[in-house]
Amino acid sequence: MRISVIGCGYLGAVHAACMAKLGHDVVGIDVDEHKIAELSAARAPFYEPGLEDLLREVQGTGRLTFTTDMATARGSDVHFICVGTPQKKEENAADLTYVDAATQALLPYLSAGDIVVGKSTVPVGTATRLRAMIENSGADTELLWNPEFLREGHAVSDTLNPDRLVYGVFDGSEDQRAVQILDGVYASSLAAGTQRLVTDLPTAELVKTAANSFLATKISFINAMAELCEAAGADVTLLADAIGMDDRIGRKFLNAGIGFGGGCLPKDIRAFMARAGELGADQALTFLREVDAINMRRRTRVVELTRELCGGSLMGQRITVLGAAFKPESDDVRDSPALSIAAQLQLQGAVVTVTDPKALANAARRFPELHYEEDTERALANADALLLLTEWSEYRDIDPYDMAVHVAAPKILDGRNVLDPAKWRAAGWTYRGLGRP
Ligand code: UDX
Repeated sequence: MRISVIGCGYLGAVHAACMAKLGHDVVGIDVDEHKIAELSAARAPFYEPGLEDLLREVQGTGRLTFTTDMATARGSDVHFICVGTPQKKEENAADLTYVDAATQALLPYLSAGDIVVGKSTVPVGTATRLRAMIENSGADTELLWNPEFLREGHAVSDTLNPDRLVYGVFDGSEDQRAVQILDGVYASSLAAGTQRLVTDLPTAELVKTAANSFLATKISFINAMAELCEAAGADVTLLADAIGMDDRIGRKFLNAGIGFGGGCLPKDIRAFMARAGELGADQALTFLREVDAINMRRRTRVVELTRELCGGSLMGQRITVLGAAFKPESDDVRDSPALSIAAQLQLQGAVVTVTDPKALANAARRFPELHYEEDTERALANADALLLLTEWSEYRDIDPYDMAVHVAAPKILDGRNVLDPAKWRAAGWTYRGLGRP
């Protein structure tokens, strides 16, 4: 099939490469010339495991091209809208400027019978509005909403092997040409047994925000338990293991620590609350305000614990932060709890050095006031305290005996509860976890 992918950011670049891998002829379109130049040279504009290899592989077949020219969308069977929906400045609501502009720019190039498929995370009601925009333009093109559930760091495999496919269609009916076309796009996943659910447009939009809200709630739930464990002298990691053995609860997404960040969960729950307010249903989501508050409280708690670890004052303390990305296997620092904590510590008088295997360039753009060091050993030389804030495997595997010789004082705060306290204490370290005695 011929496919155009509009928006070549995180979602679009991965989607375009994966669609070409599935055997389709794909053009990726974006207004950002630099991004298009990078992708055309098979370079990913961000770090995502496996993406550059995949770009090289599929560009070699001639099935994937990138351009800034929207006219190349003409003649595609399917046009995927993959642009970003960031949080508005000073507001909780999502900024729909890019989604609207992309759809508007696509209108002149639509042909009868092709379909437009939204993948971006949008406030419920957006798809119906965009569908009217297409209809009013006179184009005979159906719009579907097909939310994307990929996780950064696993984006390629999540896109190639999704755990479910959700298609939102105007009348919610499975029995129509547009659904068959989208089935053609995902034929290999469907043949491999991936579940496919057809819904109306608003339900499909809500599936994505509801899923992310549930995940955020699960993380904040365990972080609230971590607060209680700290007060009661209990261990949240054992608590999570025990409640997670109940398969109605499950152990995944029950890792207490410094809380969630990134380009999705924080902004999605805020946009969801804002949208509920517009719909007169704000009470239904007041709990998400608490989910957000618990999450932000983790950051403050880490700053307090670091102060305790440093003997009551942060002034002049040399603190090394291991990890800047919002999660491992990513160079994404959007709403990264690690960087927010590092900046707070520095504001309160500490001398902070941040290290990360992939995210330092992005971190330095966002927080130029912090000091960065690529080499882990150099980063922790003479540190008064270490903070492990992003659980990259290289930090999880640090040998406490080897590291002890480099630091000024062997003190570590494990912000992700991934180290073995007994091992670190045996090596002479003062170890603090979150929600652990
Ligand atoms: C999320 C959703 O998982 C994905 O389905 C959706 O498409 C986009 O948003 P992503 O933002 O890539 O994906 O990361 P995710 O793995 O969900 O982690 C989000 C944040 O939660 C990270 O900061 C992570 O460190 C944190 N987290 C995750 C926890 O603090 N504890 C956990 O148990 C799990």
